[in-house]
Amino acid sequence: MSQARFITFEGGEGTGKSTQSKLLAQNLKAAGIGCIETREPGGSNFAEAIRQIILDPSTPDHGPLSEALLFSAARVDHLEKTIRPALEDGNWVLCDRFADSTRAYQGAAGGLQTNMLLQLERLVIANTPPNLTLILDLDVTRAFDRVAKRKKDQQAEANACDDAYERRNQEFHEALRQGFLAIAQAEPERCVVIDAEPEQPHIAEQIWQCVHERLLKE
Ligand code: TYD
Repeated sequence: MSQARFITFEGGEGTGKSTQSKLLAQNLKAAGIGCIETREPGGSNFAEAIRQIILDPSTPDHGPLSEALLFSAARVDHLEKTIRPALEDGNWVLCDRFADSTRAYQGAAGGLQTNMLLQLERLVIANTPPNLTLILDLDVTRAFDRVAKRKKDQQAEANACDDAYERRNQEFHEALRQGFLAIAQAEPERCVVIDAEPEQPHIAEQIWQCVHERLLKE
């Protein structure tokens, strides 16, 4: 029985993180490895309540510091109630977004200082850093096209997707992308950049190989 591992998926909107998290969960289960899928903001009752507040389109105007603190409060609860208990039970945890999203959205793109965010992160995630972070990277224009297509395909749910974050401009999303790439460069032992341009099955294969090499090989 392999040791339980914590894997996070990161990247901008439209990069396919959620789909890849599901596909990795299927691959792990097929290999006999128990896992849970979770997401941020959210993943526990209190954190889901905070998610509603942060993503409420009727109150879109909040600064990066308020956001970083709210995402962090949600993360503390998510770790306590969902992530750590699952790992202690021997299940792998796959999380769609985690602390690198705060570094990229509120830091690189939002303007908060990296040192301050790193201090906050140490306090929040303490002894539970991810074993592996998969950063899905995609050209910003391509990502916008995908988000637009997804909204068209889900007409009925279009309003639900139209949150304050997806309406941010190209410059913001470019800063975000560079922010994620900088994290990968600074922490190569934890992070792997995955090209999100190819078809989903191809990306899933890349991810499975990476998980195998980094976490399943002796
Ligand atoms: P969500 O609808 O889950 O977006 P996605 O499908 O792209 O993950 O909304 C989450 C939004 O919150 C998304 O725009 C990224 C943002 N976010 C931050 O700004 N900071 C954070 O720490 C986290 C976890 C998310």
